[in-house]
Amino acid sequence: MTQDRLKPGDLRSSRWFAPDDLRSFGHRSRMMQLGYSEADFRDKPIIGILNTWSELNTCHSHFPERVKDVKRGVAQAGGLAVEIPSISVDESFSKPTSMLYRNLLAMEAEENIRAHPLDGVVLMGGCDKSTPGLVMGAISAGVPMIYLPAGPMLRGNYAGKILGSGSDAWKYWDERRAGNISDAEWLGIQGGIARSAGVCMTMGTASTMTAIADAMGLTLPGASSIPAVDSGHMRMSADCGRRIVEMVWEGLTPDKIVTGASVRNAAIVAMATGCSTNAVVHLIAMARRAGVQLELDELDALGRITPLIANVRPSGKDYLMEDFYYAGGLRALMKQIEDRLDTSAITVTGKTMAENLEGAVVYNDDVIRPLSNPVYREGSLAVLRGNLCPDGAVMKPAACDPKYYQHQGPALVFDSYPEMKRAVDDETLDISPDTVMVLRNAGPLGGPGFPEWGMLPIPKALIKQGYRDMLRISDARMSGTSYGACILHVAPESFVGGPLALLRTGDIVRLNLEERRLDMLVDDAEIAARRAAWIPPEPRYGRGYGHIFSKHVTQADKGCDFDFLQTDFGPGAGEPDI
Ligand code: FES
Ligand code: MG
Repeated sequence: MTQDRLKPGDLRSSRWFAPDDLRSFGHRSRMMQLGYSEADFRDKPIIGILNTWSELNTCHSHFPERVKDVKRGVAQAGGLAVEIPSISVDESFSKPTSMLYRNLLAMEAEENIRAHPLDGVVLMGGCDKSTPGLVMGAISAGVPMIYLPAGPMLRGNYAGKILGSGSDAWKYWDERRAGNISDAEWLGIQGGIARSAGVCMTMGTASTMTAIADAMGLTLPGASSIPAVDSGHMRMSADCGRRIVEMVWEGLTPDKIVTGASVRNAAIVAMATGCSTNAVVHLIAMARRAGVQLELDELDALGRITPLIANVRPSGKDYLMEDFYYAGGLRALMKQIEDRLDTSAITVTGKTMAENLEGAVVYNDDVIRPLSNPVYREGSLAVLRGNLCPDGAVMKPAACDPKYYQHQGPALVFDSYPEMKRAVDDETLDISPDTVMVLRNAGPLGGPGFPEWGMLPIPKALIKQGYRDMLRISDARMSGTSYGACILHVAPESFVGGPLALLRTGDIVRLNLEERRLDMLVDDAEIAARRAAWIPPEPRYGRGYGHIFSKHVTQADKGCDFDFLQTDFGPGAGEPDI
């Protein structure tokens, strides 16, 4: 490292513990209240373990054990570890959507780090929003940090068949609605689809975001691919503990790691893995915390030149995260595309990405494909523009039937989820396979919270005719485990008067993926007349956290961070010095 190693007196925590004054006496006496002697905490890196465990976060149920491993590593390296519970932001149960709480976690992480005598932090997360939330907060806090990803759960299994998180739930639900699955089979699938600790094991949002943290250099190399219940995960956790102590002495802060180069690396890797559409929102938000102004069009440009080489569902056809790990994991994938990355980027190891990738090998080239045999010739995401989405919309062409890449059809518009739900269950619904189904008022403010409703269910009337896909548009997100011809994140959202609010049932909608266009074929004068007649809806929240969210959340193309948390909003109060 270019910087000299810190001396004990330089430690951030020494501001709490070193001075011979009354306030520091209080801090030291409280450490002794915890049973620590001065030898435990004086002149030693204090490492905060930000743990997003809760009994309702099914994906982090192994974290209480892993905390012990991290502590073991920290102690061996000469630090003192303290566990700090953090809001869990679980995907499994949070209503209306965990996305409402990503920024709350980011705020909590930042303030917890800043307010306490911490020299470095280990961030324990994995379930979808917990990765961006923790990373956003820790970047803003600015102390050395290392990300400890929860790891994917084991493959699902039922009756000898492999089950993938989310993806197979949707698939078999359609079959159940078509009358093809019995109650007993449905119960068997229910018990087999999530059968160990860990995050969803498709390349959903969780595995996408942990891969992004890995590619950004924020995890130990390849850590994101290790299954949650593999003993390697325990060893990785102890390694995180050992490494963070060294990072403190090296002064290796996140601003040295999260740079334009590492963000671009992360975006390229995300495209090559067949990432969740949610990557777009979170990556923009994380980058902007580091002062990197990532834009949607840059992501689209990277998408056009990056082949998708991870054959992992839902973009890939055959495999799951466990297979990806056995095939060499993220390091092996990055090795395949090494010449497209800026491998001079510094990582938490203190080494460059190039050094971290040395010796990485692909063990199964059907899972991690060579560039000469990609799953899909371009990256997995495309950004659309047009008179329906002037500030952008996102699509995942790799996860839908190519026949929808050029499509024109009449809109069927729903203003709310319950209205849509009633219609899709109506077997007499007047609908054709060309129909473009639209759900609005489902964005950051309208949802509220930007829920994952974007994979609109296929109407029963079409399911019975054998159809399993159709073009769908919304200002919602969709789960990273979802698939199909779904256009998402329409910005500005309809709730704030984006053009989607002006679309009517029967209007013709046209998608041209090659040109990245999404338009309603309605003339400008008519659109202007509808705009003049549009009445803004009442705000969703009159009080509470939702009120803060409604006042300050930015639109999808800006990453949905709160405006006042963005780096360019204004100066912070700095480090506490009293
Ligand atoms: Fe936690 Fe999917 S529910 S990662
Ligand atoms: Mg998810």
